[in-house]
Amino acid sequence: MAELSITSLGKSFGDVRALDSVTIVAEEGKLLTLLGPSGCGKSTTLWSVAGLHTPDTGTISIGDRVVYDAERRVEVPPEDRQCGVVFQSYAIWPHMSVADNVGYPLKLRKVAKAERRNRIEEVLALVELDHLGGRYPHELSGGQQQRVALARSLAYQPRLLLLDEPFSNLDAKLRERARDWLRDLQQRVGITTVFVTHDQDEALSMSDRVVVMNAGRVAQIGTPEEVYGDPADGFVADFVGSINLVPGEIVRVDGDDADFVVEGTSDPVRVRVDGGARVGPGRLGVRPEAIAIVGEGDADRLGTVRGIALEHRFLGDHYRQTIGVGNARVSVQTPLASIPEHPVLRFPDVCKVFPASTDQQPRPSVPTPQETP
Ligand SMILES: Nc1ncnc2c1ncn2[C@@H]1O[C@H](COP(=O)(O)OP(=O)(O)OP(=O)(O)O)[C@@H](O)[C@H]1O
Ligand SMILES: [Mg+2]
Repeated sequence: MAELSITSLGKSFGDVRALDSVTIVAEEGKLLTLLGPSGCGKSTTLWSVAGLHTPDTGTISIGDRVVYDAERRVEVPPEDRQCGVVFQSYAIWPHMSVADNVGYPLKLRKVAKAERRNRIEEVLALVELDHLGGRYPHELSGGQQQRVALARSLAYQPRLLLLDEPFSNLDAKLRERARDWLRDLQQRVGITTVFVTHDQDEALSMSDRVVVMNAGRVAQIGTPEEVYGDPADGFVADFVGSINLVPGEIVRVDGDDADFVVEGTSDPVRVRVDGGARVGPGRLGVRPEAIAIVGEGDADRLGTVRGIALEHRFLGDHYRQTIGVGNARVSVQTPLASIPEHPVLRFPDVCKVFPASTDQQPRPSVPTPQETP
């Protein structure tokens, strides 16, 4: 069942096309993430759902209620959309205690005092802050303040939880914990959640489904495994995880097998291509962890190519070796600190070929103002 349904949403700010025909469905009780680089339209989408931006075109429905329809001129005010919203800046009131912050949305809705007190206790327990109701925001850590903002957004039992980079003020370790904690809370409460982030690890580890956005458009929607393992284009492949997009040319195709000549080399590499291939220029997409450094005895086997070791970095649980192959610099993830000067690389059994650099849209260079409502 769709709890949130966005159809053909368009929004321009002057000359900037912030959203271009965005269509997204968020299923009831699931966590959907909007992932993409700065300026791609994540916040504009979220704010439009909350009713804080008026789109130019399209429709938005929450449950079976249309809250926005450009053509029919329907625009339900934000306070009637039943959305709990948490922004990057938390926006909790410094002069109010934790309990008063959390109870404020209930007070606005004229909920009776006794009921208010119960509900405040309930949501503070939910975010594990039940002992801190009397404190003021300046007496809390960043992580605790962020949980107050979450508790406040949950206080009046919204249908939809909208979170715009809620962890961006936390340090890396705390972020990781906040991620697990929020995912657990979301599942326990069972609330449909739209989560905005530009952090791919966050998106992959927390979401039921991920919407990858690029320059105001939806580039791909899928499970974390789908967007990582079967990216729709070179942009998604490059943005979600890291990938080598090795430039070159397919010189021969035989069914699923193809011969790929890496730019700057002359000997073709025999690869199996996922989804078919055509003779002509292209980029071979291979993840660093999918390439193996093999022994000399394997040099003549399918999918191998010889390179030159350029540099290596220690990354804690593995090394990242950079290997020159023709004009390409290929990253390989390996447990090996030292490799031969001219290592033999073996590409994975099945590779993906992307068009030669046409689907790589320029990333917007305009910084986004961090507005608050
Ligand atoms: N109020 C505004 N006035 C003018 N342009 C805006 C406004 N809000 C957003 N934009 C522009 O619309 C585009 C999309 O912005 P949006 O805030 O949705 O991006 P985002 O994906 O949330 O980025 P970030 O990760 O930096 O928060 C950007 O080019 C941005 O500069
Ligand atoms: Mg944003």
